[in-house]
Amino acid sequence: MRFLAFIGALAILGAIAAAIYLFGGFFSVAENVDNPAIVDWALASIRGASVAGHATDKAPANLDDPETVKAGAKIYSTIGCVNCHGGPPDANWAKWSEGLKPVPADLKVMAKERTAPQLFWVIRNGIKFTGMPSFGLAGASDQDIWSIVAFIKKLPSISDDDYKTWTASP
Ligand code: HEC
Repeated sequence: MRFLAFIGALAILGAIAAAIYLFGGFFSVAENVDNPAIVDWALASIRGASVAGHATDKAPANLDDPETVKAGAKIYSTIGCVNCHGGPPDANWAKWSEGLKPVPADLKVMAKERTAPQLFWVIRNGIKFTGMPSFGLAGASDQDIWSIVAFIKKLPSISDDDYKTWTASP
């Protein structure tokens, strides 16, 4: 019984200490202060599991269609993605995106790591606690988002020249 009371007292003291640390202004929310490696690892693992668990929309049949891929490149280049993730020639990539933590993912890598429904889910809904916005919330249609997914899936094999041609202003 005494032992249980002791554990209970410890738990209460721990909760008070955590509240003082978090609400007393001791914890730093600064973007330029690194998280302990274990926190980054946990956040990345939770992110991956959450995306995999939620991405249930079925991909449309036309993802391999070259016209859809081209349309996706155009939308990708104008909607804001390049600021953070760059594009094949990195032309419009924004210097300020270096100030984001976690750093915006390399989409050539993500093209292989995530399925089309997972990419769709991420772009549509965004990711909490990262700089990744919800483009659904920002007004992009599902059709536009699927076109972007079609483009990202092909990204590892798209040449700089093709990207430039597809995204040049009319
Ligand atoms: C303001 C900067 C910013 C913009 C704009 C942005 N992203 Fe992101 N994106 C991020 C950050 C930060 C992450 C989180 C890094 C990570 O997942 O490792 C991320 C993650 C992702 C991921 C990987 C998510 C995962 O499964 O882990 C994909 C795919 C992605 N973004 C695609 C896009 C696309 C497509 C657009 C444009 C429609 C876009 N992003 C616009 C910052 C941005």
